[in-house]
Amino acid sequence: MQQWLQAYLCIVQYRKVNRMQEKLKIILKNTRDLLEKAAGIDETEMIRVKVLGKKGELTDILKSMGKLPPEERKELGRAANDVRKEIENLLEEKFAKVKEAAKEGRFRLEKIDVTEPGREFVLGVKHPLTIVTEEISGIFMSMGYSYAEGPQADTVFNAFDALNSPKDHPSRDMTDTFYISDDVVLRPHTSTVQIRTLIKQEPPIKIISPGRCFRCDTFDATHSPMFQQIEGLLVDEGINMADLKGTLDSMAKKLFGSATKTKFRPHYFPFTEPSAEMDVSCFKCGGKGCNICKGSGWIEILGCGMVHPNVLAVGGLDTEKYTGFAFGMGVERIAMLKYGVDDIRLFYENDMRFINQFK
Ligand code: DAH
Repeated sequence: MQQWLQAYLCIVQYRKVNRMQEKLKIILKNTRDLLEKAAGIDETEMIRVKVLGKKGELTDILKSMGKLPPEERKELGRAANDVRKEIENLLEEKFAKVKEAAKEGRFRLEKIDVTEPGREFVLGVKHPLTIVTEEISGIFMSMGYSYAEGPQADTVFNAFDALNSPKDHPSRDMTDTFYISDDVVLRPHTSTVQIRTLIKQEPPIKIISPGRCFRCDTFDATHSPMFQQIEGLLVDEGINMADLKGTLDSMAKKLFGSATKTKFRPHYFPFTEPSAEMDVSCFKCGGKGCNICKGSGWIEILGCGMVHPNVLAVGGLDTEKYTGFAFGMGVERIAMLKYGVDDIRLFYENDMRFINQFK
């Protein structure tokens, strides 16, 4: 090789090494600046990858050194290694710092003030309608009745036809009952459960069935389109009106006090024959007459009667062998009487000031 060429190549090489050394200095300076500003673990890690990662700036230089002649490689290698060590130290320091800061941040966040007062645990109270339903159900359970349930939407058959209700009975009207379809209604009474039970069970039958009912009534102080009833049904051999009266009289005494008297007035229900409404002597005035009993001394609380043979027949029962009685009462009405509540709407408003009074 000619001498001048050799000299030229030497200069080129020298410049290259020089440039790389410059580059190393810049990388070190930039890294130091960046690390100074970096705020957290993620940012620090990004800087590490940028410089020391697989495609990092310093890694690039270290890789390209392979192409240098041994002399320069040695010199530049040492410089590059020094820079790498320094950067590694800087990173280590920074990581220690940001990790500590993160830990402290977490401690601050998770700090528990053990002197802070605990959260108050508010124990709910039973709704007055639940109290009354449980009380009445409890009375019948103690007489050996069991609990039956039926759906709130039921067939027209269970709500009317099977209960011996004439086709033209006014309660069937769209203006009285909520129809979901031609054959399904929101049950207007819990008497639907009588049919369901008669079809399912063999006598002796002795059930009560509390639940929601629906009628197309406009909300006012004494009416609600949704209300609750408790239905009762007893069917066995040799059941008569005396059993009905004895049972309901006993329930009234337990519910309103032992001095309570009962009176049965003839009435009409399609599903019972004979049918009656039961009045109780006014528990406020004892029968003298007051605002609760509207001066009469008596308060009507339920409908009842001897189950109509046509109803028993739906359950496939031998109507010569079996007789029974049934009754149905409105839970809201009894709760209003018992607690002196003068507006049915109060039961549904969920105003805790009202509900808490029944603790
Ligand atoms: N289902 C009647 C109503 O909603 C109440 C009733 C009356 C139920 C007489 C009965 C009964 O079981 O025998 O007004």
